[in-house]
Amino acid sequence: MSSNLAYMQGVKSLKDIDVSGKRVLIRVDFNVPVDSHANITDDRRIRAALATINYCIDHNACSITLVSHFGSPKGAFDEKYSLKSISKRVERLLQKKVEFISDFENSKNEIAQCSLERVFLLENIRFHEGEKQNDAELSKKLASICDIYVNDAFGTAHRKHASTYGITEFVQTKVAGFLMMKEIEAFSKALLTPTRPIALVVGGSKISSKITLLKEVLQKVDKLIIGGAMSNTFLKALGYDMQDSLYEEDYVHTALDVLNASREYGVKIYLPVDLVITDSVENPVDVRVVPAQDVLEGFKAVDIGPATVKLFSEAIGMSNTIIWNGPMGIYEIDKFSKGTFKIANAIADCYAYTIVGGGDTADAVDRASEAENFSFISTGGGASLELLEGKILPGFSNLDRIKE
Ligand code: 3PG
Repeated sequence: MSSNLAYMQGVKSLKDIDVSGKRVLIRVDFNVPVDSHANITDDRRIRAALATINYCIDHNACSITLVSHFGSPKGAFDEKYSLKSISKRVERLLQKKVEFISDFENSKNEIAQCSLERVFLLENIRFHEGEKQNDAELSKKLASICDIYVNDAFGTAHRKHASTYGITEFVQTKVAGFLMMKEIEAFSKALLTPTRPIALVVGGSKISSKITLLKEVLQKVDKLIIGGAMSNTFLKALGYDMQDSLYEEDYVHTALDVLNASREYGVKIYLPVDLVITDSVENPVDVRVVPAQDVLEGFKAVDIGPATVKLFSEAIGMSNTIIWNGPMGIYEIDKFSKGTFKIANAIADCYAYTIVGGGDTADAVDRASEAENFSFISTGGGASLELLEGKILPGFSNLDRIKE
């Protein structure tokens, strides 16, 4: 089981190579959440990359070039997605000057010069059309400004893009950073030598991108606990009228497949038995708790109800390994946050090995003041689910390997 994890454990990491006097390009994931005033609301992903960056500085790399995406721009400059606003925070956390490079192709010669201890941050790599297309030309250009490639962008390791995968074809030395290795270690502990039963708690609004993974994931877990907007699609599949709730009509069949497969694999599925519903998310006048079968006309589900919190908490309490990915409701709004926070409390109170994955879920755990009480907080949402699915992530697949 989970031979993908065993494979990824076998890649070389920074500690296996000598960076002294070398130009190092580090793919980081600085795709951090920001509020409506562009303030960074959670800089965990930047802090998580510091160990790798500092190691290169401390071991005399002659220059360090940081490459990241930020949001999902359409392959061209868009100020909203500029990494310039992130650059200051990187500088502050690193306590070192960080030179922002708005056009790396024009600055290639400067970056390529080996000048001791300069740290560059390139503008959002997704401003290049070729990034998402894993374009060979862009990959080559990135490769030309470094001697060593380090991938430390676990949050993006499930993407086969020019800066996460393509570049490895053109650089001789390519290794994983410390964050990548730490993430694999944490998931290996949960999945390679698991203490059963294993529960996966899944929620959030990115339904289409997660629901298709669930069928595969069923083979790895003993319990699947589904809340948030994700559960609306399952409740719809059971024939309930979800009224104005967010669900994906196109994935109702997939939800049914997951329910059928769960019987085949003997996995217990837990769905909400009651819901918090409202007449409006933006301006809620009428907020009620109703049985999951009784969502009122014109209302939408925005959180799990108290009976569901009790049901989920009991299922969680009887598990020895718990992986949580996706909030139980619109936790950013106080009125609709109780379900998510109570599930955070329930998982934190367990004596189990507990992992939380995904930007929103990690943020919710923070807001519930429970971050200290989880065994591991992963920087990857989609990436961690693909790990559970059994995939070798592209961000690892072409890195150098330790000789077996
Ligand atoms: C994330 O936030 O999940 C990662 O940074 C990956 O971003 P993406 O889903 O836009 O590829």
